[in-house]
Amino acid sequence: MMAECALTGLLQETLQVFTRTFPGYEPSAVVAAPGRVNLIGEHTDYNQGFVLPMALPLVTVVLGCQSTDGIISLLTTAKEADEPKHLEFPVPTESNPLSPGLPRWANYVKGVIQYYRAGPLPGFKAVMASNVPIGGGLSSSASVEVAMYTFLQQICPDDGNLLEKALACQKAEHTFAGMPCGIMDQFISVMGKKDHALLIDCRSLEVTPVPLTDPSLVVLITNSNVRHTLTGSEYPTRRKQCMEAAKVLKKESLRDASMMDLKAAEAHLDPEVYCRARHVISEIKRTTDAAKALSCRDYQEFGKLMVQSHNSLRDDYEVSCPELDELVTAAMDGEGVYGSRMTGGGFGGCTVTLVDAAAVEKTIQRIKDKYSGTATFYITKPSKGAHVLKL
Ligand code: GLA
Repeated sequence: MMAECALTGLLQETLQVFTRTFPGYEPSAVVAAPGRVNLIGEHTDYNQGFVLPMALPLVTVVLGCQSTDGIISLLTTAKEADEPKHLEFPVPTESNPLSPGLPRWANYVKGVIQYYRAGPLPGFKAVMASNVPIGGGLSSSASVEVAMYTFLQQICPDDGNLLEKALACQKAEHTFAGMPCGIMDQFISVMGKKDHALLIDCRSLEVTPVPLTDPSLVVLITNSNVRHTLTGSEYPTRRKQCMEAAKVLKKESLRDASMMDLKAAEAHLDPEVYCRARHVISEIKRTTDAAKALSCRDYQEFGKLMVQSHNSLRDDYEVSCPELDELVTAAMDGEGVYGSRMTGGGFGGCTVTLVDAAAVEKTIQRIKDKYSGTATFYITKPSKGAHVLKL
């Protein structure tokens, strides 16, 4: 099935649910924040390396208004939220802060409310809807966090500092969702730029926009529709292994390490930790090389680096899974495909494929024919970061 951005549908849905749930109230603001696809630079952000994501036309929308009762009343339309979908709690205060708990979907939102950078917040009524697939490796959680932050900016403006906004959302994810993520997802959801991928230096947080407007090129996302539950402990473990490697190499982070440094220290490193570091060091280099290739429209080179990235994630970092490997193999097994790789944290979710526009239909058909599961496809374009919509 071809899924496309259906922003109008999302808006209608949130408006209808709002009117039904909160009779007598008029929405005063509606905002959207995108998910992202990472073209290359995986598991490098928390090693102070480079990433090359683009914001997607898939978004989370929050629509609502202030209230005077000191209560936050929030509803999600997420079809997968089998936990209660409507939640009410008092506006947090210093003596009565929010804490994570159940329902799980609300933790992202509660974290953002807790770490919002202005206040005191008023009560509010809001409905949240998203077309970013949940747990698909396209940053559904960052889009929820950034959408909620953007909504709060409408009812209680902060100083508008975008970097602090991304950092507050990352803190919410760390503390309330228990996921020690890097900065990539929240950063791109805030800063995304239409028609551009962003090369982000996760140490200096400097951004280099790379144009991606060639009509002969398509960024195809394929959702494997598998979600492995391993991720909970695997991600923090990888992060620790990287820190361990950096420590043995006497570097502040793996960003500062070269392949020569790594080889020289091989005897002092646990073999698994060695492989993890090899992925990160090589991936940081691949990412800057890929950004250069994309700027010169050298798609062959870019695609080659994508495949190397996938193989390194599969073999050295061990965050792929058979379904993602199958999708990459199927994508690459035909004409007009430059490169393909898993994207996001791994263990399921999506692949990203760079393909000639003329070959995209055939590529989709081939993947459908060869994949043992049922895949979902998204043909995407680099889109803008979080923004306010017209009511
Ligand atoms: C998740 C995290 C990001 C990043 C990727 C892997 O999406 O949220 O910070 O580490 O995994 O590249």
